[in-house]
Amino acid sequence: MNANPPQTVRSADRESAAPLVELSDLTVRLGERTILEHLSATIWPDELVGIIGPNGSGKSTLLRVILGLIRPSSGEIRFRGAPLGRGNPRIGYCPQNRSFDPDLPITGREFVGLGIDGHRWGFGLPDARRAARIDQALEAVGVSHLGDAPLGRLSGGEQQRLGIAQALLGDPSLLLLDEPLASLDVRGQREIVDLIDRIRRQRHLAVLFVTHGVNPLLDVMDRVWYLAGGRAAIGPVREVIRSDVLSALYGSPIEVFEVQGRLFVSSPDEWAHHSGDGGAKK
Ligand SMILES: Nc1ncnc2c1ncn2[C@@H]1O[C@H](COP(=O)(O)OP(=O)(O)OP(=O)(O)O)[C@@H](O)[C@H]1O
Ligand SMILES: [Mg+2]
Repeated sequence: MNANPPQTVRSADRESAAPLVELSDLTVRLGERTILEHLSATIWPDELVGIIGPNGSGKSTLLRVILGLIRPSSGEIRFRGAPLGRGNPRIGYCPQNRSFDPDLPITGREFVGLGIDGHRWGFGLPDARRAARIDQALEAVGVSHLGDAPLGRLSGGEQQRLGIAQALLGDPSLLLLDEPLASLDVRGQREIVDLIDRIRRQRHLAVLFVTHGVNPLLDVMDRVWYLAGGRAAIGPVREVIRSDVLSALYGSPIEVFEVQGRLFVSSPDEWAHHSGDGGAKK
């Protein structure tokens, strides 16, 4: 199988819309290892794409490449038609596995404010405008009441919302979320998925949403991007999460089961931990 089967455009209007991000024949090597190989894909301005794949398949690496934090060894990324690195692509990013010391002396507002201009702690914006933007972001994710709370004492779901608020501050056109469902229970996962779906519709954002299993996103995602062994397949869920497509991707037999509308992916032994389920904890 072609490692990157032709992508399917979900609706006719997408064909006439300008792509937001275009990855062309991207190969990424870290040290001696090839993490992603000959990856090509187009992200459209208003779509939610779930990024799925076993541990170590390069999901976080892919986000970091799109952010410009890791340079591909070959290939190209274009953002709104221009090579990445030129201009201001306005990308919001929630990294994976942030955990905070319970005694970290920082409030919800201070944490969200880091998103205004990163390590410079929001210097440069007048105080009143800066405060108003933080207020708006807190409200957008439903945690206005947590502005003065100590970050480290908040629950995983509350911290996750603050992380999303931080990523929204720069008014992004693309949101990259790296496993925002990790460590949340099923209800917490549902709330974050609904929140992201609502925000992306309101703000016409494209979202790349890394998750350990496909099921939590089934109702909201437009396409799925499945990574395995350096290769990838992107398309509508039912065209990618299929035994033949995944078997070709992994290079060994994979079964896909559907039980009551949920998808389950059988795994070779070394990926026995990976299922199609949400996986609250890895
Ligand atoms: N700087 C580096 N040098 C060499 N290898 C690296 C480096 N950074 C990451 N890797 C390797 O790249 C592979 C992909 O890592 P990545 O974090 O992108 O995977 P992932 O799909 O996000 O995994 P997980 O589901 O565990 O988060 C891993 O095998 C990792 O060990
Ligand atoms: Mg990762």
